[in-house]
Amino acid sequence: MKLCMIGTGYVGLVSGVCFSDLGNTVYCVDKDREKIDLLNKGIIPIYEPGLEEILRRNYKQKRLIFTTDLKFAVQKSDIVFICVGTPTKKNSNSADLKYVFQVANEIKKYISKYKIIITKSTVPVATGDKIEKILQKLKKKKIVDVVSNPEFLREGEAIKDFVSPDRVIIGTASDKANKILKSLYLPIVKKTSRYLRTSRRGAELIKYASNGFLATKITFINELANLCEKTGVDIKDISVGMGSDERIGERFLRAGPAYGGSCFPKDTRALLDTAKQFSTNLSIVNSVINSNEKRKLLLTKRVKKILKNNFKNKKITFLGVTFKPNTDDMREASSLFMIPYFAKRGSIINYFDPTGSKKEFSKIKRVFYKSDIKSACYNADIVIIHTEWNEFKFLNFKNLIKNKNFKIFDLRNIYSPNKMKKNNISYHAIGR
Ligand code: UGA
Repeated sequence: MKLCMIGTGYVGLVSGVCFSDLGNTVYCVDKDREKIDLLNKGIIPIYEPGLEEILRRNYKQKRLIFTTDLKFAVQKSDIVFICVGTPTKKNSNSADLKYVFQVANEIKKYISKYKIIITKSTVPVATGDKIEKILQKLKKKKIVDVVSNPEFLREGEAIKDFVSPDRVIIGTASDKANKILKSLYLPIVKKTSRYLRTSRRGAELIKYASNGFLATKITFINELANLCEKTGVDIKDISVGMGSDERIGERFLRAGPAYGGSCFPKDTRALLDTAKQFSTNLSIVNSVINSNEKRKLLLTKRVKKILKNNFKNKKITFLGVTFKPNTDDMREASSLFMIPYFAKRGSIINYFDPTGSKKEFSKIKRVFYKSDIKSACYNADIVIIHTEWNEFKFLNFKNLIKNKNFKIFDLRNIYSPNKMKKNNISYHAIGR
């Protein structure tokens, strides 16, 4: 099939590249010429393990076309995916849909034969209705169907998630569109994964409900970790003990810092906003958002306690600063709150991240990027393991750190408290 992905951000690029690998011809469009030029050279502007190789392979086969020419790409395609950003509006919880509507207004000029228009961007309930209104003349002529097909890709695991999804959600009232999309997804909907057809509004809400629930699961275990710290129970046992119940499931029960990234914080806020618009009380989601925000401060207080109430001139090392491993994404990472907090109180921060230095910290006094683990740890009073990259999992801290009284604060519970104790290391973790 011939597909057009509008927007070569995370969702558009990963989906476009993976669809081309299934044998489709994919036109990836972006207004950003620099980005398109890079992609045409085989360079990807995001950090996603394995993506560049698949891109190059399909580019060579001419199944992937990168262009700024929206008209050309839309006219060539049978299915048009809208994959532009839906960031949170300033001073509000609601998703900003201006880019989505801009695209709908532009593409309507280029459609003269049947096409399926799909929102893959995360959009609030009833956005599809509004897009259909923009395209109403074409809808009347029966040459468009507007469908919701949310994505469930995790950064760092996106290719795996695309190729073996737990489910593919298609929201449409059109049998014709459904039939076409079923055959598009056939190669990846294996026996074990579900192809679920629902209403368009249903598909839009499934996306928010999923992210809202996962954020709730994480927040639940994080709050229980606080209780474990006071009761001498190990949160890891709680996660396994609870998670072994199939009804609960063990994934997304890892206690840690506040959840971050470009999705959970934004989508929980937007879900709350939608509920407000429809006069519905989603008090659980509201609590999750508040609890997650408070968690950032709570963790800094723990550091304060570990450092015996003294931040001044303390050397604090951060191992990893991104919101999770296998990504260079800094959006809503806990480190964005913690590092400036400590620096402002007189600490000296050295950080190392496998994806390099971060512009977010470049102008903050007393914050320094170190290009390897050893130089980041050398002088440390405390090492904070912020992100669970594999390369942080087998460190010999006694060899790395000069200061004899150093402390470790493991926000991801990577290390064994018993082994640390045996080695006489002052080790602090989450919920244990
Ligand atoms: C998330 C969802 O997992 C995807 O299904 C969804 O498609 C995507 O959002 C999206 O809406 O586009 P992502 O933001 O890439 O994916 O990251 P996750 O792996 O879900 O992690 C989010 C945050 O939760 C991270 O800060 C991570 O460290 C934290 N987390 C995750 C925990 O603290 N504990 C866990 O057990 C799992």
